[in-house]
Amino acid sequence: MLKVTARAHTNIALIKYWGKADPELMLPANSSVSLTLDQFYADTTVSFAAETGNDTFVLDGVKQSPAATQRIHQFLDLVRARTGVRGSATVRSVNHVPNAAGLASSSSAFAALALAATRAAGAELSPRELSRLARRGSGSATRSIFGGTAIWHKGHDDDSSFAEPVPTAPSLSLRMVAILIDDRQKDVSSRDGMARTVATSPYFPVFAATAEHDAPAMVAALAQGDMEQIGQFTERSAMMMHGANMAAEPPFTYFAPATLTAWAAVRAVRDAGLPAYATMDAGPNVKVLTDATHVDAVVAALHAQLDNELVVCAPGPAASVIDTTE
Ligand code: PMV
Repeated sequence: MLKVTARAHTNIALIKYWGKADPELMLPANSSVSLTLDQFYADTTVSFAAETGNDTFVLDGVKQSPAATQRIHQFLDLVRARTGVRGSATVRSVNHVPNAAGLASSSSAFAALALAATRAAGAELSPRELSRLARRGSGSATRSIFGGTAIWHKGHDDDSSFAEPVPTAPSLSLRMVAILIDDRQKDVSSRDGMARTVATSPYFPVFAATAEHDAPAMVAALAQGDMEQIGQFTERSAMMMHGANMAAEPPFTYFAPATLTAWAAVRAVRDAGLPAYATMDAGPNVKVLTDATHVDAVVAALHAQLDNELVVCAPGPAASVIDTTE
């Protein structure tokens, strides 16, 4: 029986995905652009048994309940349908990401699962096919098949909604500093949060239209190495996503008091003349986009204002198979 371990790295969206046009196919309302990070990743091992039965999912050494395994099970059904493998699967995943606190653990999780499960089933998908498959597990996973910067084209059907890498100017060496604020589980999952915002927030259409406009503009700014543009688009997309959540019914937010403190610290660093731009996802942690030339100064300036742990990330690699055993 083939046992395959794949590693996929978390990505952080610079232009956010926050809302589905088709929840069944996981087609997003707008295209999005991301940076895959070297410091946060998931290692996932999959093997299929000859017999049918319940799938087993072990996360960080703890066997998960049938309810917690349901999402993995549904995803594995897609893999079974695609590859013709019938048996039940055993999935063991080790997360090198603070879980479910907006450090996008589902992006690395489903990208690693897509790669490990298809290989364990004996199939070799192209990166684009893997990206489309990972999308069905979690939208953000669409982009984690690729290293560095990537765009997820929203598309209009299963075939046309996938990510691909986008180049950055040779002069541009992006860095992202994660300000760790809280690693507790979030109150509102990204799935529930985006569904509520899509259904009720009058700001949602403006968020999505702006993101759709900014995604190709971000790709151009990355190619040109225009850090100021990249940073402005990044902050705008995050703030508009969180603004749309605050205008939902009932309203909700991932901002904690410490989030605002961190955001103000980033602004102060920028006012002092350093390139530093904030973004934030479905949790209170703040991520700061800067470049390799300035990252040490940015970290020192943040440390001078904040007590939080800071993790410096460089662009991470594409998802890859790290072990195969018969
Ligand atoms: O696909 P999910 O459930 O991981 O949702 C991701 C949503 C954000 O991280 C907030 C934005 C994004 O584009 O990754």
